Amino acid sequence: MPPSRMVEVVENGRRDAMGLRKVDSRASITEADDLDLARLPDRPRIKIERKRSFDERSLSEHLAGGSLRQVDSVESIFSLGGLRSVLDSPSSLGHHSFEPHPMFAEAWDALRKSIVLFRGQPVGTIAALDHASEEVLNYDQVFVRDFVPSAMAFLMNGENDIVKNFLLKTLHLQGWEKRIDRFKLGEGVMPASFKVRHDPIRKNDNLTADFGESAIGRVAPVDSGFWWIILLRAYTKATGDMTLAESPECQRGMRLILALCLSEGFETFPTLLCADGCSMIDRRMVGQTFDSASLYCRALLTKSISQGVYGYPIEIQALFFMSLRCALSMLKQDSEGKEFIERIVKRLHALSYHMRNYFWLDFQQLNVIYRYKTEEYSHTAVNKFNVIPDSIPDWIFDFMPNRGGYFIGNVSPARMDFRWFALGNCIAILSSLATPEQSAAIMDLLEERWEELIGEMPLKIAYPALEGHEWRIVTGCDPKNTRWSYHNGGSWPVLLWLFTAACIKTGRPQIAQRAIDLAESRLSKDGWPEYYDGKTGRYVGKQARKFQTWSIAGYLVAKMMLEDPSHLGMISLEEDRAMKPPVKRSASWTI
Ligand code: GLC
Repeated sequence: MPPSRMVEVVENGRRDAMGLRKVDSRASITEADDLDLARLPDRPRIKIERKRSFDERSLSEHLAGGSLRQVDSVESIFSLGGLRSVLDSPSSLGHHSFEPHPMFAEAWDALRKSIVLFRGQPVGTIAALDHASEEVLNYDQVFVRDFVPSAMAFLMNGENDIVKNFLLKTLHLQGWEKRIDRFKLGEGVMPASFKVRHDPIRKNDNLTADFGESAIGRVAPVDSGFWWIILLRAYTKATGDMTLAESPECQRGMRLILALCLSEGFETFPTLLCADGCSMIDRRMVGQTFDSASLYCRALLTKSISQGVYGYPIEIQALFFMSLRCALSMLKQDSEGKEFIERIVKRLHALSYHMRNYFWLDFQQLNVIYRYKTEEYSHTAVNKFNVIPDSIPDWIFDFMPNRGGYFIGNVSPARMDFRWFALGNCIAILSSLATPEQSAAIMDLLEERWEELIGEMPLKIAYPALEGHEWRIVTGCDPKNTRWSYHNGGSWPVLLWLFTAACIKTGRPQIAQRAIDLAESRLSKDGWPEYYDGKTGRYVGKQARKFQTWSIAGYLVAKMMLEDPSHLGMISLEEDRAMKPPVKRSASWTI
């Protein structure tokens, strides 16, 4: 069944997570859905006459300049609105066959405790409510990226106001003048985080925000703007309320974000060049300058050195792609919007081509790179970026299964970072940056390399860890990022929600269930840590905060999505046929 049809059925149906049918890992969820749904006694079968929703218009339609917005109607946006809140609120769950794990109610309690109020209104959730931790740092703030899973949980539960307030509050912060020392940041930059300060004398609340000027490393969060656009679409999709996205403020906010990443420069690639630490991995993971000692080490280590996340990290490229598609579905075709729509369409074409061809790695492609000739000049070059095969790290030859593939961490001239990054690959599936064949191959890899990528606690943020001299050079001797810890091969429970969404989209819900079972065996007992350490994620992270909100929300969203896959539509975009890759070159693409 083609994936577009698959998602359509998923979006139209409701299912029971606890009653998951045992289906072959590659079988479509939809067959199971139809059967299960018919048998559900206590759930109304929700039939939604689904016109093509606003985000499913293809690029070719945009290119053809067809009438864009007429097809949109509130009904065409998948929304269960109030009905959903009745069905899915934790209190109502007891009436259904879905019997949640005791952790589920506990997680809701913890999530509610993390809510931050501004002048009496909920505006977000605090990053961590860890009373035991002496070092608060900035974990008492509302992070944009951290709030996304909280927002998804609230939307799934029909609690839309907190999400709307958050979107408006961060939009307001975007309008602030942003400076680092004497340098003024771009207008569109969204904050990494904000804090509500209560003034007990004036009895008033004030906001402070961090756009990178207080962040460790002083890096602006490139991902914040992308998450903001993605969340705006999720809100619109879940509530059917198009007035927010269509408001002049939101339209302007989107255009400002887009202006930052669609500007022309000296770029030869459609990917977005960015600094280290500008996303979830917000610390240095690459050595950009080498002293002579490091250079010597580097010479010794040519075979294992990797690029880190400076340059064109997969996480940013996938979020960039997804936010462009989300923006395309929400931008108005007025005089200002039209220009952006045209630029987005062109960029999406180029970006999907570049990513699907140059970031994609599977057994066959690895073999091609392994045999690369170097120093090729002109248009006929096969090894376009002049990657020297000797720089391929040893681990990848054993790691790469015969079946499976993934988007590698980073690609730039003469450099490929072969590491696996979970977030970027999940977003690639959800945004349909990955073709259906590539999505299936990513899931194959996860199944084939379960020990390494899921282990005892889902999910590894990056694989493998940097060790020894490589760790010294790449992380700058970061004591928080020692091997198999934190961003350097640590395991982050928050990633469970994106993994679950990817599993549902690719028709493999039982894999998500396996991962959730692992999380349920420890997460609450361990006090909802931020991350786990060790090769298989056995140990609570060395410096992990407890009661980390996105670990809690990530679990809730994974549970609710598996219980009701119709929620997937909030975070998933169907394939756009106008972006089909021109080449088919791998065995794992044709399973
Ligand atoms: C750490 C993480 C970052 C997260 C923040 C708040 O800095 O690296 O991704 O947003 O904590 O939880």
